[in-house]
Amino acid sequence: MTILGIESSCDETSAAVVRDGKLLANVTATQLFHSKYGGVVPELASRAHQRRIIPVVEEALIKSGVSRKELDGVSAVYGPGLVGAILVGLSFGKSLALGLGVPFVGVDHMEAHIFSNLIEDPKPSFPFINLTVSGGHTQLVLVKGPFEYTLLGETKDDAAGEAFDKVAKMLGVGYPGGPLIDKYAARGNPAFVSFPRSYLEEGSLEFSFSGLKTSVLYYLRKIGYKSAATSDGAAGNQLLADLCASFQAAVVDVLIEKAIRAAEAHKVRQIAVAGGVSANSELRRRLTEVAAGRKIQVFIPKLEFCTDNGAMVAMVGYVKLASGRASSLELTAEPNLTLSS
Ligand code: KG4
Ligand code: ZN
Repeated sequence: MTILGIESSCDETSAAVVRDGKLLANVTATQLFHSKYGGVVPELASRAHQRRIIPVVEEALIKSGVSRKELDGVSAVYGPGLVGAILVGLSFGKSLALGLGVPFVGVDHMEAHIFSNLIEDPKPSFPFINLTVSGGHTQLVLVKGPFEYTLLGETKDDAAGEAFDKVAKMLGVGYPGGPLIDKYAARGNPAFVSFPRSYLEEGSLEFSFSGLKTSVLYYLRKIGYKSAATSDGAAGNQLLADLCASFQAAVVDVLIEKAIRAAEAHKVRQIAVAGGVSANSELRRRLTEVAAGRKIQVFIPKLEFCTDNGAMVAMVGYVKLASGRASSLELTAEPNLTLSS
């Protein structure tokens, strides 16, 4: 069975082909132009998806050596995300399925992130804890099997990636903030400022990052911080490096503590991490180290599958279609879709 997967929920236009559970090709076009606006501009994102969707799908088919006629199904994300962006990939996917006379499978973007650890070996086996940390979400999920999810906790305010992006803006380092903070933090002192860690009430698996963000803002005001863009630039700026490392440590500490707490509470020995923030080098290094000490195995996908990609969508589409779960062509975009079993 050969299936095409399409992702267009935010600022990545991506398409992939999976045959019998094996990834043949994954092509992603990232909309870098949003950086000059300091964040994703929804209207511009939709227009860029419209321009790129056909070339990206064509390239995925060429790279996989699969012709359109060989497709047994088409899958695309229908939520959550930016409605105008989702509509481009969803409408294109449904139309392609209709034209080819094959089934269409609508995919939940958050379910797809869980599947990003099921694309390549080594894969976690069921049950496992999944921590999805992206620009829009911070979620802990108990994955009991394919399509069997229990949402254990999510953020009450900002997502982890959103906190990285907002703090990067305050520091004046540019957008998207996560990769830049990660880079500068590498030569900084994580103990330079002790920013608050919000663990919430005893045993809670929920997250909150807005207090940390405010605390960074007050600290910058107190010291009369001058934006990296207007001082001596980012390179060689030790204060910037120390602030990045201190902020990053506060986020990473909470993510690690809660992921381990979830695994121990549910007697699960595997944690999978997904979403853009799983690219963070400190999170990857420290979570693996701390979990190993508790005899818990950690799975983090390669960078290509951390951020939004068509491969994870095609993989969900394949598993759903193989178990007879095709969608109606009347399926519409659900920007606030919540993960369900
Ligand atoms: O999953 P993703 O590509 O898109 C969403 O669905 O949101 O995640 C994007 C987020 C952004 O907030 C970005 O700053 C963050 O992931 N990110 C990182 C790193 N790389 C990307 N955050 C921390 N460290 C990184 N290395
Ligand atoms: Zn995502």
